[in-house]
Formats: sequence, structure tokens, C-alpha cells
Amino acid sequence: MQCSDEPDESSDLVANSSGLCHAAPMTYDFAVGRTNPETFPLAAFQAAAQRAIARDHVLYTNYPGELGHEGLRKLMAARETEREGVAVAVDRIALTNGSMQAVTLVAEALIEHRDDIVITEAVTYPGTISTYRDFGIRMVGIPMDEQGMRPDALEAAITELTRNGKRPRFVYVEATYQNPTGTTMPRARRLEVLEVVKRHDLILVEDNCYGDVHYEGEKPPAFYALDDYPQQIYICSLSKIFAPGVRLGYFTAPPELFRRVLKKRHDAGSNTLAASIVHEYLAGGLWRHCDEQNVVLKHKRDLLFEMLSVHLDDLCVWSQPAGGLFLWLRFPDDVDRDRLATLSEQRGFRYGRGRNFHVGNEDVPYLRLAFGHVPDDAIREGVGVLAQCIREARTSNEPAKPASLFDPT
Ligand SMILES: Cc1ncc(COP(=O)(O)O)c(C=O)c1O
Repeated sequence: MQCSDEPDESSDLVANSSGLCHAAPMTYDFAVGRTNPETFPLAAFQAAAQRAIARDHVLYTNYPGELGHEGLRKLMAARETEREGVAVAVDRIALTNGSMQAVTLVAEALIEHRDDIVITEAVTYPGTISTYRDFGIRMVGIPMDEQGMRPDALEAAITELTRNGKRPRFVYVEATYQNPTGTTMPRARRLEVLEVVKRHDLILVEDNCYGDVHYEGEKPPAFYALDDYPQQIYICSLSKIFAPGVRLGYFTAPPELFRRVLKKRHDAGSNTLAASIVHEYLAGGLWRHCDEQNVVLKHKRDLLFEMLSVHLDDLCVWSQPAGGLFLWLRFPDDVDRDRLATLSEQRGFRYGRGRNFHVGNEDVPYLRLAFGHVPDDAIREGVGVLAQCIREARTSNEPAKPASLFDPT
């Protein structure tokens, strides 16, 4: 066997200072929401690249424009229409540099002043948090339960803010397989949330990044499919059903909002090469591709459930994601978060610390496990390592298992 002196994540061999190979301790990387390298469709994608380049190379000699590759937009319009049963116009889909660019453009288009207020779930995607912070946006986090953002708390927060002359600019929500909690908002609750938003005449921004990473049960409809309320923007991605490295996402909205967001775009469009190859590959069977990926992801999720039950059932509670790439784990309040971080780091276990997802940066007693790309062996072995770290980071011997994943307030 060969070894290199540059250890990387894919290698289980490293060179020591004498240049000899030795088995490196296994690492358990549950930190980042990536797709699964084991199931990347390499041969089919290579073949698609050949065909796409032959067909589209002349397109590459021009700028993509604000909407981007038409074939991929058609495919994404069909994806939406087939999932939601509502027609989505091809010329109202704009491809972006990952959905992260859509998150950014939308915020830029909708805010007017630093200190503007935006409503989000109490814990949400760190990319959104850092973008909003950078724009000077004040985030108001709405408490959640197993069904996502709570409409009663949303109503109370908006009423209170409006009473104080601080009308929020928009409500940003991840209703399906939420990052980081993995929760899904059922249809009835979506309708309640929409009612609140409509009553206050606010804009709703839905980020459906994980929408088709689906394992079981019903797929609740997107907000735009539930109601044609015109103040809605919908964001989606190819990162989680295909690969984040292609940097492709998109947004759609009714005409006025669509134009308003596009006005913030000055990048001449998103990468046509990537779009044409991904289009060529996925046009051969988008849903088949998703189904094939999801079967393996579900297996990983089930394995994670199993290992958590074996190692942490007496001490922790966790979410039951029906899709997506994340599980949200609550540990006892008496766990020293810094010590847990240090111990885990030393033992090669990486996770998302709770405070990174909290809009107020509160060091909440939670951690996020991203399981989609983690080899089965690392799930089997890693959860035991995490469990040991949590036990050692406790500061008392009191019985301490949290009663529920979310506190009723
Ligand atoms: C909720 C959410 N939105 C948007 C993104 C950005 O993803 P991308 O830019 O790769 O589409 C992520 C990435 O993890 C996410 O979790």
C-alpha cells in the first residue's frame, strides 16, 4: 500500500515523522451536509458530460444571462410541477450559484436598511444566519417544535414587533427537512403559518433546499402550491439531490418579486457548463436518481437511529427526520459544551455545534449530525465515540435526559 505525507479525509493511512505508514485513527465527520460520495453516478455523469459538451459547447462561448441554461430551467420547472402539482413557468425560474446565492439576493432585494428585521426559525441554516448578519439584519427566531416553526409564536412575535413599529421585512422558513432540526412542517401547519403571514401582509421566503431528499411518508406541499398569495419567494437547490460542487440552485416568485430579486444580480448568470452537464444527466431520470440516492441515505439514517439508541438512549433525545441530511440531538443541560468540543475534536468526531445554528448565537444544548456522506463503519463506530465524549463532558451525575427535543413555552 502507498501512503502520502498529506493525510486527507479519504485515506486511512498517514505517514509519521519517520515516513512509515501506520493506521490513522478513524475520523467521524458528521459536520457538513454533503451528498454521498459512495453513490455518485460517475460513469453516467461522465457520459452525460461528453454528450452535453458536444451539444452545448457553443452556449459556453456566451454569457448565460440572468436566468441561465434553458434546458436545466425546464427540468427544474418540471421538477416543481411534478412534485407540487402546480405549473411553474420556465421563464420564472432563475438559476443561481447554489441556492446560497438566491438566499443572498433575496435578502439584498428585500431589506431596505441595516437593522431591518427578518423572522426565521429559532435555529436555522448558518449560511443564512451569516448572510443576514452581514447585511445588518436583525433576526427574530421563532420557537419550534417537532412540526417546525410554531404559528402561535409567529403571530405573537409579529404582533409585538408591529406594535413597536418594527414591521418585519419577511419571514424565512425551511418547512421541509429543516436544517438543522430535520423537522417537517405538516400541511395543516403550513396553512396556519400562511394565514399569519397573509394577515400581516408579509413576504414569505421558503427555502426548500432538501425537498426531494425524501425517505418516507407524505411530502407536504410547498407554500406556493398551497396558496397563490403573491408575496412568496421559493428557493431550491441541486446541491442536496445531486452534488454541492456543481453550485446550482434556483428561485422562483411571482413577476414583481422575481424582477425585484433579479435586479440585484450583476454576475452575468450562473455556470452554463455545470448546468448543461447536470441537465443532461438528470434529464435521463431525475426521480430515479433521487430514489437511488435516497434509499442509501435512508439506510444511513436508520443506522444512525440504531446506534443512537444503543449508545445514548439513557441520556439524549433526537429528531426523527423523514428526509434531508440532518439529525438534531439534544444532550443534557449539564454537558460542558466547550469540553465536549475539545474531547470530540481529539477523538476525531466532528459535528455541528448548537450555537452555530441559533440566530442569537446561544450555546444551546444541541448538536447536529450530518449523516448523508458518512461511511456505515464510521456511523457504527462514531456514535459510540460521541456518546463517550458526551458522558465525559457532563458536570454532574444527576439523571439528566431531556424530557423532549423542544421545550414547550
Ligand atoms: C437550508 C439551506 N439553504 C441553502 C443552502 C445552500 O446550499 P447550496 O448553495 O449548496 O444550494 C443550504 C446548504 O446547506 C441549506 O442547508
